[in-house]
Amino acid sequence: MIKWDTNLYDSKHSFVSKYGEDLIGWLTPQQGEHILDVGCGTGQLASEIQGYGADVIGMDASPEMIAKARETYNDIEFFVKDATDFSFDTRFDAVFSNATLHWISKQPEAIRCIYEALKPGGRFVFEMGGKQNIKSIADAVKKVIADDGLTSLLPETFWFFPSVAEYAALLENQGFTVDSALYFARETALTGDDGMKDWLKMFASFFFKKFNAAQTENILNRVVEYLRPTNYNNGTWYADYVRLRMKATKPPTS
Ligand code: BEZ
Repeated sequence: MIKWDTNLYDSKHSFVSKYGEDLIGWLTPQQGEHILDVGCGTGQLASEIQGYGADVIGMDASPEMIAKARETYNDIEFFVKDATDFSFDTRFDAVFSNATLHWISKQPEAIRCIYEALKPGGRFVFEMGGKQNIKSIADAVKKVIADDGLTSLLPETFWFFPSVAEYAALLENQGFTVDSALYFARETALTGDDGMKDWLKMFASFFFKKFNAAQTENILNRVVEYLRPTNYNNGTWYADYVRLRMKATKPPTS
C-alpha cells in the first residue's frame, strides 16, 4: 500500500483535481442526488460535486488521504474503503471516479462493487489512465533499471491502462451499458524544475520498493536525465498522460 504525502499531493500535483473538474461536466450532478466519489483523495472534487447541491460520500483506500479530506471538508462524510471490496447501506444515483481506477488490479471486483452501489438507472462516470499512458516515463524507468541488470527487482504488475474496447468489455460483462467514451492524449505540465523527479517520487514509488535509498536516488537521477531531451521543454517538465473517460449506466430494470 502506498503511503501518500497529502500536502505534496495537493501542492505540487494539483493538476490531478484541476483536470478532474472538467470530468464533473460529464457527471452533471443534480440538486439532492446521492453521489459516491471512489478514490476521492483529499476530497477536492467531492467538495465541488457537493457544491452542485448533491449529497456526496467520498471513499479512498488511503488513510492519509481520508484524514486530510475529513480535516478539510467537515461537512462531507469520508470513509477508508478498498474499491475492490466495499458496500454501503444506501444506493447512489451516480458513482464518480477520477485518476483512481488504474491503480486497481482486481478490475472485475471493483466494477462489481460500483455496480452494486448504484440504484437501477444510476450512472458511473470516470476518468483513468488509458492505453499508453505515461509510456515514456515507464519505459525510461525500465530502461535504466535494465541497464543495471536489475529488471528482476521490478514489480510484476504496474498500473492498468486499458483501451476503450478493453474497459467497455469489463463494464458490459458486469451489466453496464456504455453511453460515452473518450480516449485522448493530455500532455501535462509538471510543477517546478524538479517536476519529473517529484512526479516519480510521488506516483512511481512502487517501482523502487526493492531498491535501497541510494539506489533509488541514483535511478531517479538517471531517469530524469534520460527523459530530459523528450519531456523537458523551455524550462517545464511534461508527462505524457493519456486519458480514458467513460460514462456507463446500470440498466433501469436491473
Ligand atoms: C494517472 O493519473 O494517469 C497516473 C497517475 C499516477 C501514476 C500513474 C498514472
